[in-house]
Amino acid sequence: MKTILIIGIGAGDPDYLTVQAINALNRADLFFLMDKGNAKEKLIALRKIICDRFIKDRNYRFVEDQCPERVRGVADYHGSVVDLNEDKQQVFERMIGDQMADGECGAFLVWGDPALYDSTLRIMEDIQRSGRHQIDYDVIPGITSLQALAARHKICFNSIGQAFQVTPARRLAEGFPAGLDSLMVMLDAQDTYTQFVGQGMHIYWGAYVGTEDEVLRAGPLDELAQEIRDLRAALREQHGWIMDSYLLRRGGAGG
Ligand SMILES: C[S@@+](CC[C@H](N)C(=O)[O-])C[C@H]1O[C@@H](n2cnc3c(N)ncnc32)[C@H](O)[C@@H]1O
Repeated sequence: MKTILIIGIGAGDPDYLTVQAINALNRADLFFLMDKGNAKEKLIALRKIICDRFIKDRNYRFVEDQCPERVRGVADYHGSVVDLNEDKQQVFERMIGDQMADGECGAFLVWGDPALYDSTLRIMEDIQRSGRHQIDYDVIPGITSLQALAARHKICFNSIGQAFQVTPARRLAEGFPAGLDSLMVMLDAQDTYTQFVGQGMHIYWGAYVGTEDEVLRAGPLDELAQEIRDLRAALREQHGWIMDSYLLRRGGAGG
């Protein structure tokens, strides 16, 4: 039997690691690394810093492999993610099969929390169901980027007694859902918030939250939309990649 730990590492600041996550790090013999894109070097470096800082008196190793990329610009988004996850599963299985000995404990260090817009848990379930590997796995929750964003802006997700929604920007592009006043928006490659200028909304925005590159803006959307749009373009240019999210609230500040 091989043990796999899926450890949420929080969304940028090593101080976001929970005690449970630190204990889990100290159980692992090896860490799987498979970041991708322009952010790859920085994200891998952060994972190594986390291990160096929190693992005490224990030998461990890193196992790196290529992370497949989603085919972009295709009409069938869902299909492209399913294909990507199949490709990732092959890489996971290769690493588990070739790089882990029986009885060892390996860990995936998942950005933020593994339950939020991340496919690692689905892939592990599929691997276990396939029966090709004798694995047992555990999940350790982490601080999501949304919690980090809310804390930095000192705001609640919801207004009093109301529901809120977490959404990828591609769904927000279809319209602000009826009956809701608060939306937490992730994965926005298109400046989707600009569609809602002139509707009395407030935005709480943050890029690279929790990291040394963090940038925050909050205020009426009508006043900030253009500034955030320009900032995003400039930051993407400067860093080569951007990770940002925001809360959109109808009817002004607070809640
Ligand atoms: C694939 S999702 C992963 C989310 C992650 N599992 C979590 O718990 O936050 C990536 C998206 O999370 C958001 N995100 C992740 N880290 C962030 C950060 N440090 N600052 C702002 N947004 C972040 C961005 O919207 C980004 O497009």
